[in-house]
Amino acid sequence: MKKTVLMDCDTGVDDAIALLYLLADPEVELCGLTTVFGNISAATAARNTLKVLEVAGRGGQVPVAVGSELTLTGQAMELATHVHGANGLGGVDIGVPVGTLSPLSAAELIVSTVRARPGQVHLLATGPFTNLAVALRLAPDLPELVEGVTVMGGAAMAPGNVTPAAEANIWHDPEAAQAVLSAPWDITMVPLDVTMREVISEEQRLAMAGSSSPVARFAAEVLDFYFDFYRDVLGRKSSACHDVLAAAVAVGDVVPLQSMKVGVQVDTGTGPGRGATICDTRGMYKGELQQEGAHCTVVLETRGDLAASVVERLSNFVP
Ligand code: BDR
Ligand code: CA
Repeated sequence: MKKTVLMDCDTGVDDAIALLYLLADPEVELCGLTTVFGNISAATAARNTLKVLEVAGRGGQVPVAVGSELTLTGQAMELATHVHGANGLGGVDIGVPVGTLSPLSAAELIVSTVRARPGQVHLLATGPFTNLAVALRLAPDLPELVEGVTVMGGAAMAPGNVTPAAEANIWHDPEAAQAVLSAPWDITMVPLDVTMREVISEEQRLAMAGSSSPVARFAAEVLDFYFDFYRDVLGRKSSACHDVLAAAVAVGDVVPLQSMKVGVQVDTGTGPGRGATICDTRGMYKGELQQEGAHCTVVLETRGDLAASVVERLSNFVP
């Protein structure tokens, strides 16, 4: 068994792809799914998550819990429906998915799952970090109990994607991001520096659309709207692979070509830098990739060929 993963997500087109990627790996055990506002409301993200499980033939087999609809400080943020569609899955009609939701809140499910299996559960966050921050408040000993943490978010040396400084998952809740990135656990941050360089092309999407696998066909369908949004960002119909890259790093499928273990601070001010992840990468000038006392590994370079593996894996996935 490669990894036991609890994924906290704001499903969301690329969260859905990341989830399918993990569900298609028989060596990964998904022990829980928790949802947060961000791309869409936490409630809609939970419904979308149930749909993804159903598409993968795993309906009712993984607990799904709804989490925060507001930031750690109680703010309602604008959702990213212009990126992911009004229903978060590119406007694709998903009907009423099978399966029921956990009576626990997302943070409660995170804490109870990790406590039941100390040292085993890897937390993967692909939405704003609010649920993780709430879980840390509920269980300050959480860092001693997890196997590790991987998050999609931030921008180390690259520009942001919501503002010039801020990446979406951090922008939606900078205070939560600061709490999670400064907690005393080993955490790997997969920022825009690398996710924007892992691009899935329209040719690859069309290959999935023509696949005999219903999972790949579903992926191609939900990606269509997202690709239209990214046409403006990348200059051609395609998309970045944000959340699936974090998933692949979390389970060891992608080993970074370059990363640095450094201190990371989130700008929680109200100026133009709000939501920026300030990574102390100054050591790179003298080749020092490990800063004393730091516990945040920032991924700075990957191979850029993840999309081909995603397409192959989903096209061969017959639930
Ligand atoms: C992140 O923001 C969301 O829109 C995506 O799902 C991804 O997690 C990229 O900045
Ligand atoms: Ca996401």
